[in-house]
Amino acid sequence: MTVSTARCGARPKQLFNHNTKILPQHVAIIMDGNSRWARARGLPRIAGHKEGAQSVKRCIEAAINNQTKWLTLYAFSSENWRRTPQEVLDLTSLLSYYIKYEARNLHKEGVCVRIIGEICRFEPKLQKELHRIQELTKSNTRLVLILALSYGGRGEVIQAVKQIVQDVKKGAISLDAVDESLFSNYLFTHNIPDPDLIIRTSGECRLSNFLLWQSAYSELIFLETLWPDFKAQDYNEAIDMYLQRERRFGARPGIK
Ligand code: IPE
Ligand code: IPE
Ligand code: MG
Repeated sequence: MTVSTARCGARPKQLFNHNTKILPQHVAIIMDGNSRWARARGLPRIAGHKEGAQSVKRCIEAAINNQTKWLTLYAFSSENWRRTPQEVLDLTSLLSYYIKYEARNLHKEGVCVRIIGEICRFEPKLQKELHRIQELTKSNTRLVLILALSYGGRGEVIQAVKQIVQDVKKGAISLDAVDESLFSNYLFTHNIPDPDLIIRTSGECRLSNFLLWQSAYSELIFLETLWPDFKAQDYNEAIDMYLQRERRFGARPGIK
């Protein structure tokens, strides 16, 4: 992957729109519609997933060109283990291939890769590759790419609760200290700001167990585009839509 600003068009002037709104720092994407894309072409499902991997590269370029600092991609949910063994094998093999072959390019482009999810459910070889890419890219600062793999929001909250209970029992923290900020530190996403914008492709309008805690005040944009068709223009348009939104966080506009 080479990030070509010429091809995608760097958009520095878009940092503020006419309402002086700030570009989203953290964009999260539910990459959906691979199977429908393949079915519409009479192709096997795996062809849709393969094409979806190409969209990932375009999306990373678009994120960098839009000055996105954190990009989270939902690639495999905790519920996706329920798919047929063949599809799970296809998806994990593709993931393994992507991680292995894109590691050097991502590193060269200054991308820091972070994985969230129950990585221990993957086979040891893939787990090792996931650790390796995180280690290789950990000092990069151009973009933090967070891959949600075997990820589920409910499971994430449950593991946080269990760890907090253990720490309270041990006396490492007091029950009174448990607040929203402390709770966030026990999630897979600790040290990552909540997503400003969540995009879902393929016309489905649901979160499917994605970032349930973190999405409390995210702006949601649902696109009809199927993930394998996703281009820089879709990303740019979603950012433009986001810039038209008014984020109030429950308060009155203009009152802090
Ligand atoms: C998204 O594509 C990829 C994953 C969930 C892993 P799908 O395989 O869900 O495609 P559709 O939504 O059935 O078209
Ligand atoms: C959500 O898509 C998970 C990912 C995109 C990785 P699904 O296709 O699994 O979600 P549902 O089943 O339509 O809700
Ligand atoms: Mg789907």
